[in-house]
Amino acid sequence: MLFRGWGKSVDGPWPDLATVVDHVGVPHLVVTRHALVRRVLADPVTFRPDNALDAVTPIPVAALRVLAGHRFRLPPTLANNGGASHPEIRGIVADALHPHRVAAQRPWLTGLVRDRVAGLTAALDAGRPVDLYADLAADLPLLVLARLVELPDAPVGAVKDFARAALELFWAPLDGSRQLALAAEVGRFHTVLRGFAATGGGLAARLRAAGHSPDVVVGALFFLLVAGQETTSQFLTLLLHRLAGEPAVRAGLRSGEVGVDDVVEEGLRLEPPIVTWRRVAAVDTTLGEAPVAAGTSVVAWLARAGRDPAVVDAPDEFRPGQPGSRRHLAFGAGPHRCVGAQLARMEAAVVVAEAAPLLDGVTVVRPPWCPDNLTFRMPDAFVVRRV
Ligand code: HEM
Repeated sequence: MLFRGWGKSVDGPWPDLATVVDHVGVPHLVVTRHALVRRVLADPVTFRPDNALDAVTPIPVAALRVLAGHRFRLPPTLANNGGASHPEIRGIVADALHPHRVAAQRPWLTGLVRDRVAGLTAALDAGRPVDLYADLAADLPLLVLARLVELPDAPVGAVKDFARAALELFWAPLDGSRQLALAAEVGRFHTVLRGFAATGGGLAARLRAAGHSPDVVVGALFFLLVAGQETTSQFLTLLLHRLAGEPAVRAGLRSGEVGVDDVVEEGLRLEPPIVTWRRVAAVDTTLGEAPVAAGTSVVAWLARAGRDPAVVDAPDEFRPGQPGSRRHLAFGAGPHRCVGAQLARMEAAVVVAEAAPLLDGVTVVRPPWCPDNLTFRMPDAFVVRRV
């Protein structure tokens, strides 16, 4: 494993650039400063996005065969697409996630969250523990995404299992037997997605109508089903956990002195669900003063960039609205910047507004545990109960 890009390591001393060798012996150039991370992400000609979805543990032949058996292919579509088709595919996805369409989902989502919070409050009042990941955050983003891009019905549990399997298969340190099991899970769902891509309405139909091949439609749906829901449910869990330890912020929310949107931005800065993102140097170049050879894997450490004292006043403190709070790079930067940022922010704002009061007077029974992963936090649970 290269490193865990959160917790103790994100707080420790680091140079601006560090070459770190990962668990399979591959060196990566880790970029820690805000200005340099932004430069890398905003210049996809020099630092191409082609390696964004490469498996950090090379997938062995046996697991590749399992994937091939499901006709698994992941052509460049969005995050890993440095080619000419990227702007058009991105444009179609961006239309589906247009801020007006996102805003239209807000009342529905607010009602859903309010109902759930009422149920969770009753459970807490009765002395029962509640898991704010499983019982609140896990499926909300998928339910909203399904309405926005018109996903055909698929069991929520199956999509969550597939998405988490994909995040593990491509970004975790793994042994061969685990890779086989994950390849089977990811491959199985890929077959389901091929069916959606061929017949589905909404986004799939629009991509088909624009003349994109079935592989491209599957690739776009694959990425959206992972990036468009798993990231946000992870973020909601991490943010609620953080807020549980920030009573002054919750008091400010109650009194109206602290704004919900400021809490979301400070959460993205300090608890980003995506801690790193990769690019590959296309040519011999420099970063700061340092030479970077063509072919170098560059790891933009988004979580660290959010704590750069050059951009934020109190980098390690959760102070909503502080100068620099919104300058985080949790959504990346440049032509590949997250196309779902508006949606993620809306979902988080609804959850903070409706669910923060749940955290008053609770103790944490089980904080989120996050497995080793280069990029995604993947918290597994967040259990609280009333004292
Ligand atoms: C808190 C939640 C989220 C975080 C932290 C996040 C973060 C990111 C990051 C770091 C990137 C790479 C940006 C770059 O290369 O510069 C990205 C790309 C992307 N994200 Fe998100 N994301 C979130 C939620 C979403 C949602 C809700 C959707 C859609 C429903 C979404 C769709 C995408 C897509 C399609 C891309 C690829 C864009 C492209 O390459 O043009 N994300 N996201």
